[in-house]
Amino acid sequence: MLRFYESNSITEKYQKYRPHYPAQLAIETLGDLKGKKLNFLLDVGCGGGEATNIFAPYFHEVLAIDPSKNQLEEAKSQNKLAHVTYKQGFAETLPCDDVSADIITAGSALHWFNRPKFYKEVDRVLKPGGRLIVFEYWSFKFIPLNMSGDVTKLSEVADKLFQNFVQLETKNNLELENIYRISSNKFMKILDEMPYSKKRRFDNISMERFWSFDEVKGFIQSVDIYDIYMKRKENELLHLSNEERKTKLLELDPSEEFVRLLKESWGCTELENSNVKMKAVFNLYGVIGKNSLYRYFQGIRVAGYRTIFVRLTDCFCTYY
Ligand SMILES: C[S@@+](CC[C@H](N)C(=O)[O-])C[C@H]1O[C@@H](n2cnc3c(N)ncnc32)[C@H](O)[C@@H]1O
Repeated sequence: MLRFYESNSITEKYQKYRPHYPAQLAIETLGDLKGKKLNFLLDVGCGGGEATNIFAPYFHEVLAIDPSKNQLEEAKSQNKLAHVTYKQGFAETLPCDDVSADIITAGSALHWFNRPKFYKEVDRVLKPGGRLIVFEYWSFKFIPLNMSGDVTKLSEVADKLFQNFVQLETKNNLELENIYRISSNKFMKILDEMPYSKKRRFDNISMERFWSFDEVKGFIQSVDIYDIYMKRKENELLHLSNEERKTKLLELDPSEEFVRLLKESWGCTELENSNVKMKAVFNLYGVIGKNSLYRYFQGIRVAGYRTIFVRLTDCFCTYY
């Protein structure tokens, strides 16, 4: 299994330089709860709790899991909600009782899981009528502010540069390439494969930030590809002295290169990074699948009547 987003440096950058999910994400995907709270949310691949915090107000109890100790430390240190618990756990073996979750979420994380195993676990854990909500943002525009020229055209450059940046590692690694393909086609594959008859894709939420090139650089450094690439290069340069290696790594740094190329295409190379302002717009998309009663009874059969003792009143999701 590929394990990324685990190092200290990436956790720190992730917290600082990623756009924050808007409250609209929970409102849009949970549907009309008629002012009631649901019982139990399981957030899988919670990282630093970025999505957990957006969904938590709609639940009495929340469990957020992630394999990464660094990410969990970060999540715990910023957690202000008593009904939210963070603990180590994997998507492929969910640490929850059968038929216990009203909602299962995975924010910017699903493509890292062993999905067949995860869907099987979701079948076991999700209540009938419960929802599996998965989402991410992997398409963006950096729109220059106070700049002359064709702004629409200039704002498309960053996305293209980002595709090249991703290829730095995906071209050498088929597994990674397949994972990134899921993102580059905006979860269309996830819509196809999610094992529910009632499912829909959403693509209508955006997140806006006002950034300079300092934040753009930090954003690139918060992507796992950056970490993998820099570690690979460092290993290749072990024969050099520390000083030489440091200089060479700076030359090869893809976040520097990204900013340099974007500044060139915007015609502002003479300006300091912090002086070039832009609106960064991220497109948030995802898939919502709804568990059916039919699947639930099939699950009971497969599990050898394991869940038959769960009281029916308990096992129905509040808003089935
Ligand atoms: C890009 S981060 C997303 C963090 C957060 N959910 C968000 O929306 O920003 C992806 C997270 O998935 C976690 N992850 C990777 N493989 C996993 C697995 N097999 N089971 C559960 N989580 C996993 C990583 O440790 C990482 O914290």
